[in-house]
Amino acid sequence: MTQMQRLESLGLFDARVPRYTSYPTAPVFSTDTGSPFQTEQLSNLDPAQPVSVYVHIPFCERLCWFCACRTQGTKTLSPVESYLETLEAELALIRSILPRGLRMGRLHWGGGTPTILPPQMIHRLAQAVKSVIPPSEDWEFSVEIDPTMVDRDKIAALAAEGMNRASIGIQDFDPLVQASIGRIQPFDVTRDCVNDLREAGVNSLNTDLVYGLPHQTEARLIDTVDKVRILAPDRIALFGYAHVPWMSKRQKLIDETALPDERARYRLAETAASLFSESGFTPIGIDHFARPADELCQAAWSGRLRRNFQGYTADHCPVLIGLGASSISRLPGGYVQNAPATAAYTQRIDAGKLAGSRGHVFSPEDLLRARAIEMLMCDMTLNIPALEAEFGPPAAGLAPIHRQIANRFGAFVDLGDNALSIRRSGRPLTRIIASAYDAYSEAGAHYSQAS
Ligand SMILES: C[S@@+](CC[C@H](N)C(=O)[O-])C[C@H]1O[C@@H](n2cnc3c(N)ncnc32)[C@H](O)[C@@H]1O
Ligand code: SF4
Repeated sequence: MTQMQRLESLGLFDARVPRYTSYPTAPVFSTDTGSPFQTEQLSNLDPAQPVSVYVHIPFCERLCWFCACRTQGTKTLSPVESYLETLEAELALIRSILPRGLRMGRLHWGGGTPTILPPQMIHRLAQAVKSVIPPSEDWEFSVEIDPTMVDRDKIAALAAEGMNRASIGIQDFDPLVQASIGRIQPFDVTRDCVNDLREAGVNSLNTDLVYGLPHQTEARLIDTVDKVRILAPDRIALFGYAHVPWMSKRQKLIDETALPDERARYRLAETAASLFSESGFTPIGIDHFARPADELCQAAWSGRLRRNFQGYTADHCPVLIGLGASSISRLPGGYVQNAPATAAYTQRIDAGKLAGSRGHVFSPEDLLRARAIEMLMCDMTLNIPALEAEFGPPAAGLAPIHRQIANRFGAFVDLGDNALSIRRSGRPLTRIIASAYDAYSEAGAHYSQAS
């Protein structure tokens, strides 16, 4: 049996499992937990602990067919302007609730396309956030950048507000692949954007790539990887294309007959991963690569890597405050998601309430399982003594799951007294292995494939 056949026999191509950017995952959230819980939790935050802040900008000038992010198309800035006013109103509500003295350790703007904001709106939004939660001395500010929707003035405005990390959307550089996902993005435009960011002093750059796209072949992906190497990013995210047209209607424009099959997807991911390793990038978690000097790599080597809604991070702020439509907050007692549709979000804020519409209150068992899943997704190793030190005797309750995994995944894992480790060869199975610790895995959600 080949390696691929062994992985296949363990369900790699059939499993539909979450990416575990949270545990429990968003489909488990219920409308029982909403703005009253959000208000109570925010008002009781410990001001001595800096928080992370996420701002969602749900607008794009173009709507790429492959995209599963929560966003809407607009050709004018008028809905963006109204949305900015609502964000300011949300921040004013939060100001009246938060304890005095709270600081912001990290700020991330995602979307959608945050770089749809013109410079004066960039300054307005950044100032609004900072006036409510002032940055700590060593704060970090990262922004998702669409190279076709940014210019030097926007980059200068973001840098002036403190942006020191940028995440650049690429996906694939091949013209046929780009045409088949409705996203035309010439290499020169991306290279100029990278140069402009570096000139503005933004020295930590991530690039997003996607494998499994229509018409993607190994030769085309190798060419994309070569071009990415010219850009010399510090980090690379290599996501498997999640084809979920029942959730993301615009994916109905994707020609399904041109999608690579599961085996081809697996080979695409392996090819790109080995090229990145040859170029000096270290694999991080299930889908990232980072240069040794990069903070993500340092965090991975020292066991400080974490996973949150933005993916892998070295961020250690325990609380994440999500602002804007659909944003999820991670509060000490649980998760709360703002109303997902922009109209519903605006209505709630206009009514003078926080916008939380669904969420989940953590049980002690949730926190234990969340940490076990996070360890596997980040370190590929579940450190049993560390879990026992943090959670006490209940951690021993997971022992039958460790054994079931060892029995089922045999040569792909190692189980000792101190750890359950996923071997290099078993990395593609990580999401499936992590899902064994998910007590809600029968909740009926319809996820993308695991490979
Ligand atoms: C909010 S988007 C990117 C920001 C910016 N709007 C852009 O297009 O450059 C974040 C990333 O999610 C990833 N993504 C979106 N839809 C996806 C899908 N269906 N499967 C896998 N990754 C996806 C893409 O890599 C994308 O760059
Ligand atoms: S990939 Fe970026 S630009 Fe394209 S639709 Fe998604 S969020 Fe918008």
